[in-house]
Amino acid sequence: MKQTVEQQAELQKKLVSYRRDLHEHPELSMKEYETTKQIRRWLEEAGITVLEYDLPVGVVAEIKGSRPGPTIALRADIDALPIKEETALPFSSRNEGVMHACGHDFHTAGIMGAAILLQERRNELKGNVRILFQPAEETSQGAVLVEKAGVLDGVEAIFGMHNKPDLPVGTIGVREGALMASVDRFEIEICGVGGHAGIPNNAIDPIVVTGQMISALQGIVSRNLSSFHNAVISITQVHSGNTWNVIPEKAEMEGTVRTFQNEAREIIPDLMKRTVEGIASAYGAKVDFRWYPYIPVVDNSPLFTKVAAETARDLGYEVVTAAQSQAGEDFAYYQTMLPGFFVWMGVDGPKEWHHPSFTLKEEALLVAAQYFAKLSINVLNQWK
Ligand code: NI
Repeated sequence: MKQTVEQQAELQKKLVSYRRDLHEHPELSMKEYETTKQIRRWLEEAGITVLEYDLPVGVVAEIKGSRPGPTIALRADIDALPIKEETALPFSSRNEGVMHACGHDFHTAGIMGAAILLQERRNELKGNVRILFQPAEETSQGAVLVEKAGVLDGVEAIFGMHNKPDLPVGTIGVREGALMASVDRFEIEICGVGGHAGIPNNAIDPIVVTGQMISALQGIVSRNLSSFHNAVISITQVHSGNTWNVIPEKAEMEGTVRTFQNEAREIIPDLMKRTVEGIASAYGAKVDFRWYPYIPVVDNSPLFTKVAAETARDLGYEVVTAAQSQAGEDFAYYQTMLPGFFVWMGVDGPKEWHHPSFTLKEEALLVAAQYFAKLSINVLNQWK
């Protein structure tokens, strides 16, 4: 069943109002209480079944197809950022210092549009579509929370998007394999022996040890990783000492590692630990290396590359090869459990993500709604 031009215009109008409502009332990660209520209200208005899970924030719904088949999921993130909005839009944030500067308002409204279309077209569905409005993407907490609540139980595949300001409206970026980088954090604490700056032989200087470590850690990417892999190890904080004539006892470093290969991600922490422990031992210092795994690589399953591109073309949209991004996305967490595909949705915005003047073209809402509705139908129809 194809929508008439009037029906399309009506849906677009509704999605614009949803997006503006969300934009005006942004909420930070794990505080999306009003957003949760509002999404629930919209789903109920559309006659879509809301599923109950033990989640403080976020909403899950499901559209049951008229024919039996597997269950797949569409995911939108719903949180905003601690940024003071500078767009001067008439529907700017009313929540001082909080802004939808990553376009998650767009994702939520767009996937809501797909849900509305799927509810109307459920007799075309050979299976079910679960809709996840996930909280706390920005803090990498949401996907884990949702999965632990059992939301993915019985789900066979998952699909999602991020808006892309540098692509025009009506263009969809598709890429098999790694799309977005892994994001991890590390801390290194070096413990030496403090003493008189003029008598270093009676001390173990943690600053000199730290200096050696900083240089040696850079060698991991160039000497220990295969040339087919890539990664960055960035040390972003170094702290030690508090005066000019005393050798301090301790030094601390902190930083992040990003890569597009889960294989590289797995070996880097061990290499870093070995490197800093070796250097500390050479100087007689002690070291504590702490690794905080955040999110893996957004790694698109080859099972869905063809259908992701063909769906866009069927609807008359442009398909481009998606450029990789060094930003992270907690959608990656779902992809460690089940096959998934994440696309770029062109929104033709003037600024990159997380900028106080970030905005986008709302015409892309209907594109996203149509694309994800059609993608769900196609994936379920082609399911083997
Ligand atoms: Ni985002």
